[in-house]
Amino acid sequence: MKIALIGFGGMGKTVHRIAVERGHSVPVIVDPKASEATFQELSAEVLQGMDMVIDFSLGSAVLENAKICRDAGVNLVIGTTGWYDKMEEVRAVVEGGAAGGTEMETQPAVGFLWSSNFSIGVNMYFKIVQEAAKLVNRFDEYDVWGHEIHHYNKADSPSGTAKTLEKILLSNIERKTAVVEEKLSRRREPNEIHFSSVRGGAVNFAHTIGLDSEADTITISHAARNRDGYALGAVKAAEWLYGKKGFFGMEDFLKFN
Ligand SMILES: NC(=O)c1ccc[n+]([C@@H]2O[C@H](COP(=O)([O-])OP(=O)(O)OC[C@H]3O[C@@H](n4cnc5c(N)ncnc54)[C@H](O)[C@@H]3O)[C@@H](O)[C@H]2O)c1
Repeated sequence: MKIALIGFGGMGKTVHRIAVERGHSVPVIVDPKASEATFQELSAEVLQGMDMVIDFSLGSAVLENAKICRDAGVNLVIGTTGWYDKMEEVRAVVEGGAAGGTEMETQPAVGFLWSSNFSIGVNMYFKIVQEAAKLVNRFDEYDVWGHEIHHYNKADSPSGTAKTLEKILLSNIERKTAVVEEKLSRRREPNEIHFSSVRGGAVNFAHTIGLDSEADTITISHAARNRDGYALGAVKAAEWLYGKKGFFGMEDFLKFN
């Protein structure tokens, strides 16, 4: 594929390396700041001849980028986070609805796939934790807790991945109805799950779920060594999306793998 990259920061650079390793070319790099960029701004013209756009940039740019990709007829993989309040507008653009298309159109104009977490390992981890949570639901001698650590430069806390883990635990363990993310200056209630966050170091991306009884402890952990897993997942998702039209999420891609 000929890939256009939007955003050439930590993720964009890693996606570039992995895409080239997998035999793709990256003739277009759009970034207003990076010195390696071939364009400062996205437009339909710069996408001429491209097969795919992969976007790891800034959430506020995603809706406009989707419109431009739609106009250029180029499929789009979005790894960027922070735009989910615009999900329905973006979907309307992709599917040719009021925000982006004409009434004559019945087929989606382009293929669009988004995920807040493209790491195949993290997505496997979600499924493993879901199965563990179902077991905890059956055996009430087990309590459950969560912990995550990320590099000092991470903007948000807890991580988006921790938020997903919390949802998985709450929706599968009936006796747990709330998560506490702050420091506890009191006893934890039986219906609560305590999920802590630590920030430090340069390359930390790790989550642990603990299942604990009087007799033993089971810990289920995922630790990423670098950004490669996220970038590889995004490039593989782009390969899957090639030639398809419609609005897709990570589950659609994972179903076929
Ligand atoms: N989905 C996933 O698996 C996953 C994994 C890691 C990061 N992310 C998300 O990807 C995004 C980028 O992460 P990062 O670590 O590479 O950040 P980063 O800050 O290192 O890089 C972002 C780059 O985007 C550029 N940029 C800003 N506005 C732009 C625009 N309008 N057009 C083109 N480029 C623009 C910036 O100049 C910068 O170079 C974030 O939203 C992050 O949360 C997602």
